[in-house]
Amino acid sequence: MVAVIEKTSDLVSLIQNNKQKGNTVGFVPTMGALHKGHLTLVKKSIKENDLTIVSIFINPTQFNDKKDLAKYPRTLEADLEKLIPTGVDVVFAPTILEIYPDGDEKGSNIDLGDLDNNLEGAFRPGHFKGVAQVVKRLLEIVTPDKLYMGQKDFQQFTIIQYMIDSLKIKTNLVVCPIIREPNGLAMSSRNERLSHSTREKAGIIYTTLKAIKKSKGNKTIKELEQYGLKRLSIAPFEPEYVSIVDGHKLTLLNDMNDTDYAVVCVAVWADGVRLIDNIIL
Ligand code: PAJ
Repeated sequence: MVAVIEKTSDLVSLIQNNKQKGNTVGFVPTMGALHKGHLTLVKKSIKENDLTIVSIFINPTQFNDKKDLAKYPRTLEADLEKLIPTGVDVVFAPTILEIYPDGDEKGSNIDLGDLDNNLEGAFRPGHFKGVAQVVKRLLEIVTPDKLYMGQKDFQQFTIIQYMIDSLKIKTNLVVCPIIREPNGLAMSSRNERLSHSTREKAGIIYTTLKAIKKSKGNKTIKELEQYGLKRLSIAPFEPEYVSIVDGHKLTLLNDMNDTDYAVVCVAVWADGVRLIDNIIL
């Protein structure tokens, strides 16, 4: 039976009890509006840990666009219906006050090693400070052995790994592959806001990423990026960036030989919705 917990103190005692028994704890932080991508993380955690906790918390501090926060789907009942069949132990669905009892909603001063300046960070000022703030707080509450995050948000997991290392947090980050719709579109709660026809056509994002990967040996980085931008500039799509970066530092690359870990990251607008995706080269 799944326990739905709202109070931080209740969750902390449940976790303490489990740890005393020697149980391992896996943690999957989410903002709800769950889809198969989220559920894959949950299932992996259940397989690898004695106790799995999923949090559902729409973190206000990571929304640089307040309209985006207002539009974010709030679907707790439907989320619980999706979670119950997985056999998850605990859903932590706190109020804002439980997470930020001191009203600390403004963001944080956690060092992110400049990893938050490029890519998403350049277009969503303050976003990753808010993400780091809430993940740090959640890790303090849950103290998991393992934390599960998706490759879908490449910059996010890279920043969280940096924070875990620099703050010496005793949690192992497990990164899970991107789960896609049948046409290749990366699953996202935002996909629901696309028209049927745009959602069908949005498979072009993944086919473009795969095409870039295929021709990485024959073209320069600039050519590959230009090719991606051109291919994704077809109505109703409007690319914000197609960037090939070093996967460790998230800095733009000039030459493929400068790294052992190149990643193409894209952000594309369609129907007023911002879609992100990536592929490791
Ligand atoms: P949310 O967007 O709900 O995503 C929760 C987790 O699910 C993230 O680790 C994300 O990378 C992963 N995920 C989303 N779509 C996925 C897909 N198609 N395949 C695989 N994994 C996928 O990311 C957040 O919430 C928040 O920023 C959070 C970390 C919870 C902090 O508030």
